[in-house]
Amino acid sequence: MELCGITGLKGTVSVPGDKSISHRCIMFGSIAEGTTEIHNFLPGADCLATIRCFRALGIDIRQEGSTVTVHGKGLHGLSAPSHILDVGNSGTTTRLLSGILAGQPFESRLSGDESLNSRPMKRIIDPLTQMGADITSILGNGCAPLCITPSRLHGIHYDSPVSSAQVKSCILLAGLYADGETSVTEPGLSRNHTELMLKEFGADIRSVHNLDCSRTTAVIRPCGELHGQKITVPGDISSAAYFIAAGLIVPDSEIRITNVGINPTRAGMLKVCEDMGAQIELSNERTEGGEKIADITVKTSRLHGTVIEGDIIPALIDEIPIIAVMAAVAEGTTIIRDAAELKVKETDRIETVTDNLKAMGCDITPAPDGMIINGGRLKGASIHTLLDHRIAMAFSIAALAAEGRTHILDSKCVDVSYPTFYDTFEELL
Ligand code: S3P
Repeated sequence: MELCGITGLKGTVSVPGDKSISHRCIMFGSIAEGTTEIHNFLPGADCLATIRCFRALGIDIRQEGSTVTVHGKGLHGLSAPSHILDVGNSGTTTRLLSGILAGQPFESRLSGDESLNSRPMKRIIDPLTQMGADITSILGNGCAPLCITPSRLHGIHYDSPVSSAQVKSCILLAGLYADGETSVTEPGLSRNHTELMLKEFGADIRSVHNLDCSRTTAVIRPCGELHGQKITVPGDISSAAYFIAAGLIVPDSEIRITNVGINPTRAGMLKVCEDMGAQIELSNERTEGGEKIADITVKTSRLHGTVIEGDIIPALIDEIPIIAVMAAVAEGTTIIRDAAELKVKETDRIETVTDNLKAMGCDITPAPDGMIINGGRLKGASIHTLLDHRIAMAFSIAALAAEGRTHILDSKCVDVSYPTFYDTFEELL
């Protein structure tokens, strides 16, 4: 994809359904009794991988674009897959599905693409093993392919060393199949869609805060059954983030993005925008299916540097590439720390963000847990996405605010989470 600097992005757009929520609708619908009807599902490659896996586990799933019907077979209705489950590029599919598979009376194997098969799975192997699961990394390197064989699970309390919704959700889903209570505490609260949605499906799940509210523990007990739901997936704030940034940094722009999920465990970027001096407004705020939703309006703003660290990091972890782009054109210095998790995403995003911003002429210094960015002007460059969808989208926005032409290599990888990303742009020209 070739892009160049522009001005005047104007209009109202909506973004596709939330990726995290779309995955969970398919998974929970599959192990619920009855039908789950999903609207505004994200038909991105990651969520389609989840559908593919549950079909291979014997679930009848009808998908037409963003409308999906899942004919659930209950907690004990999955059947043994006839082949290795292909999780593609999707960490969420791999880790959440592993939690469910740990409780099944049949063996299963799962594997993904090169990026997926190099991401750390020890973070789920350890707690699942503590629960009595039999899960191994087939190559013995702590990564997928994984093999899961039947065993009896028992509830544990897990003090997670990482703030990761994938790890937390994996354990909670295994907890549905365990004897007794299972609970997970994280260093900082990660996205809580599993907790909110499992409750809607009828699970016995709750979140408890410690005395000073600094830590939250999710607690689940096995329940008799889950019940199919009708769900409208909110727009994905991680996809809206690119248009929020575009509206702020492209001269003479004003963009409204409708129906965006603003769950506080996801909306850290909105606070960072405010801290950077952005003109950003929320309107039409409401709650559906336990999830907060709003319309977001942004106008071109003079941004300045900020410090992003601590508890807010899990609430914006996927937005750091686009926040880094905003920082690269802001006045002054932005420091991002406590974000070592960036290293184990679809690519090492400290490296991919640093290398590509450097190529665009930015003064950026990587750190083991983040980066330091001195804002200035960007120039066009060739962007090496390494097939990371969020790098492709973040640098497409950088290109719009840069001088000269930018070439985004392998831009098709946006299909992972936002197949119509470039079409949405057309609506704003
Ligand atoms: C996700 C959790 C996050 C996020 C990913 C989706 C989820 O990963 O980066 O894009 O749906 O639970 P971690 O749990 O590894 O932080």
